[in-house]
Amino acid sequence: MIISALKSNNSGDQRSPIHKDTVKNLLDLGIEICFEESIGKGININDKTFEELGLKKYKREDCLKNSDLIITNQALHISELALMKKDSTVLGMVNPFSNKDFIIECSKKSVNLVSMEFIPRITRAQKMDVLSSQANLAGYVAVIEAAKHLSTALPMMMTAAGTLKPAKVFVIGVGVAGLQAIATAKRLGARVEAFDTRDVVEEQVKSLGAKFVKIDLGKTGETDQGYAKELTDEQINKQKELQAKVCQQSDIVITTAQLFGRPAPLLIDNRTIDKMKPGSVIFDMAVETGGNVEGSKVDQIIDRNGIKIIGISNLASQVSDHASLALSNNYNNWITDFFDKESQTINFDFQDEIINNSVLVYAGEIKNERFK
Ligand code: NAI
Repeated sequence: MIISALKSNNSGDQRSPIHKDTVKNLLDLGIEICFEESIGKGININDKTFEELGLKKYKREDCLKNSDLIITNQALHISELALMKKDSTVLGMVNPFSNKDFIIECSKKSVNLVSMEFIPRITRAQKMDVLSSQANLAGYVAVIEAAKHLSTALPMMMTAAGTLKPAKVFVIGVGVAGLQAIATAKRLGARVEAFDTRDVVEEQVKSLGAKFVKIDLGKTGETDQGYAKELTDEQINKQKELQAKVCQQSDIVITTAQLFGRPAPLLIDNRTIDKMKPGSVIFDMAVETGGNVEGSKVDQIIDRNGIKIIGISNLASQVSDHASLALSNNYNNWITDFFDKESQTINFDFQDEIINNSVLVYAGEIKNERFK
């Protein structure tokens, strides 16, 4: 089997779908690995290093033409599918909810499509979970970025020149990103509070040494995949009202609240922002899916009466080496679990829960009901 790793079409994405530290197990299986020239530029790995490991360098077009499986951190251009072999496979983070045309075209061209965003949240699949591996790093980056924009330090400092109070950080939404944001802010010495609509989170917040803000919204809950259920308008309004006081007392507010496959809920509106302290920072980690904060914009820092509202896309790319290492491990784990050594092909066994969830297109057919 020939696998090719492609660069991202988005010049802002520094990550690579392969990493020098993770290719060995694929090579040991007898898989041939090719890569698009200069794929490792954003992670300081040059082509020669990959070639010395036994990988082959090609132009993008040749990778597409010759491979059985393409790994990519982004959906390809639709026109590129025409170059691919019939029944070959694209595997990666293809942002399916924003790329329905791409999914349809894969079925028309009989190119199989594996969306790593659809890896089920079961223990066996944790090693393939790209959303978690990237959200974890994003949570870390969000705190570092927010801290850069604050005019105070995060830890308390007792100095001869007086005592400097620790910064107060409020994290809204405590999934993978939120937990890492709490842990990072705590390590930097901030006082941290957090809120999530899923009750199970309270213990996790406390175990990190942060305070859980109790807001009674009535019946909330989570799906069987562990995602939050959407709140009613009434519940959202109540949440906004009750968390506004915590926002007013915070120096940094980090919002991470997302709903899988749906726009993010708007949780902080201008009424709350206008009561916050000048100099405080709001970091909207959900900005790419619609935003949790009124007025936040992708890749912009908005100044509203001295309050900075930050929205940055693809946060994990800012720690591109670790993000690539984690992603390539996620991809490799999928490939090695379903690679049949004897036939040197992927075993698309739809009885398997991971295959059944993550394969959106197979043999010219769209398999996932959401995209039919
Ligand atoms: P996510 O990125 O979809 O959402 C982030 C957080 O926002 C979630 O914790 C969600 O409950 C919260 N949220 C949604 N609406 C909110 C609101 N109105 N106010 C406050 N918070 C709100 O979630 P993520 O990070 O992908 O993970 C969700 C859960 O799934 C976590 O408990 C995580 O530990 C679990 N998980 C389980 C895995 C497994 O078992 N294999 C793998 C990955 C995550």
